[in-house]
Parts: sequence; C-alpha cells; structure tokens
Amino acid sequence: MHTDLPTLNRHFGIEDVLSFSAGEGGLWRALITTDKCTAEIYRHGAHLTRWRPDGHDEVLWMSAKSNFLYDMPIRGGVPICFPWFGGNKPASDPQGPSHGYARIRTWEFIEARQEQDGMTLVLRNTIEPFETKFAVTVGDKLKMKLTVTNASKTTATFEAALHTYFTVSQIRGVSVHGLENADYIDTVGGGRREMKQDHNPITFTAETDRTYASTATVRIDDPGLSRSITIEKTGSNSTVVWNPWVDKSKAMSDFGDEEWPGMLCVETANCGANAVTLEPGATHEMTAVISLARRSK
Ligand code: BG6
Repeated sequence: MHTDLPTLNRHFGIEDVLSFSAGEGGLWRALITTDKCTAEIYRHGAHLTRWRPDGHDEVLWMSAKSNFLYDMPIRGGVPICFPWFGGNKPASDPQGPSHGYARIRTWEFIEARQEQDGMTLVLRNTIEPFETKFAVTVGDKLKMKLTVTNASKTTATFEAALHTYFTVSQIRGVSVHGLENADYIDTVGGGRREMKQDHNPITFTAETDRTYASTATVRIDDPGLSRSITIEKTGSNSTVVWNPWVDKSKAMSDFGDEEWPGMLCVETANCGANAVTLEPGATHEMTAVISLARRSK
C-alpha cells in the first residue's frame, strides 16, 4: 500500500494526465485529464466521482451533501456495493453496513495505463473471503470491471452492484429503455413485490426502487439534456433502477431535499436471486460500458 502521495505520484503519475492529491475531506483521489475526458476517482471505496467526456455535460451525479469521511460512503458517482446489496446482510454480520463494506474501505491503486480507449486505473481490496479488483477506463466511453475471486477454501456467495448515479435534466422527463417485459422486484417502502414491466419504457412519477432480472443493454433517453446514455454489461443478471423522490430524499442526511429530480440510478448488479456463488479459487467478472449519444429534443 502506498503510504504517501509523492510515492503514489512517482509510481503512477503522468504529467498533465494523471495526478494524485488530497481531495474532499483529505481523502486521496486520482485526477485524470486526457484529450477525451476528465475524471476523478477516490481511493475511498474505489469511488469514481466524475467522468465528463469532452463536448458533453457531466455524466455522473454527485450530491452536494455527500460525506467524504473514512467511515461513510460517498453519495453519487459510482459506489461499489459489495459483498451484499442494500440490507441483505449475512446472518454472521447483522450490524454490517448498507450495501456492504466495499464503499467504506480504503482501496489500493495498483496499476495505471494509457491505452487507445483511454486511461485505465486499477484498484484492489480484500473483503474476506474475497479478493476484489476494480478497473476503470475513462475515455469517450466509461468502462468498469469488477473482478471477484473467492480466496477461501469453501464456496462463498456475494451480491454486487456498480451503483451508478446519472445526472438527468429532470426525472419526470426521462425514459429508460431495454427493460420492457422484464420481471422485477419492487422494494419501495421496504416491501418486496414481484412485478412485471409492461411493454413500455420506464418513466418516473413517484419513488422508484426496482431490481430487474435482466442482462439487457439499457438506454436512458434525456430530451432535456439532448442526450441518451447507453449501459452495456456482461456478467450481470440484475439491473437496479432507483430514484428516492421526495420523502426518502428528506430522510437521507447526505442527500439534499431538492436534489432528486436531477438524478437517476441505473445499476449493473447481481443481487437477490442472482447472487453469485464461487467455488474456492474461482473468479467472477462483471463489466459495464457507458456511452453517450446526442439526440434532438
Ligand atoms: C439503491 C437501493 O440501490 O440504493 C435503495 O435500491 C437504497 O433501496 C439506495 O435506498 C441507497 O442506499 P444507501 O445505502 O446508499 O442509502
């Protein structure tokens, strides 16, 4: 583990492209500026907080109320939920944090490389019994890969999500395509109702918290920002769609009361019935590739 910023910069820094510094709350972060994009990734939680391809508005949403503390998750960007999703804590850890430990752990930067499709950073962590790696490539597209290895001598099961917060112009005006006719679990209000999406795209008129059983590519159409966002994925059988709306926003201290209309989470995940079981030594990869297209209003 690198113990100081000068060492980290010496190992991985690239003049005018990649540098490491203390960010919000003194937490270390990598700042990336290439001819294709700007991006920021914190070591705390291996948390991508910014990605803006040139010529576009900011893609990821961040709450102005986010904590930047060693023992709290960052609100916005791409939190990694692991080794469980939401409140699905194992019986052995009833006091464990919401969405698992990955987003409140200090990860280690282990690799930085410049390639044709952008700048790649790799971070590593151990969350027993798993070894985890998160590789993020920022360029015209955003590519993320979460690799999980069972480092124990017995089978082990996990849930995971790349809990991506997108900036939208106004939630009431966006639509989500690609989940038509899919089964989902509706968890609004803490319930667990089995539902089926009709043949229409998803639109938003109230709190929405759904885990879809789906491997499909999803597209968010946002006429207000004249863009659509496409999320392609592999190794993922669940897609979570979330907007907290009015009351839930007010109940979260790290989420502004009025911020909900400007965000939407579409999460590449494996959770609930799609939790992943790994034999000793086995590895699982989940990837998400996010791209933007301009569209007319
Ligand atoms: C979503 C869940 O993924 O994350 C919601 O589906 C949850 O139920 C939300 O409220 C935020 O969770 P947290 O732990 O970051 O407040």
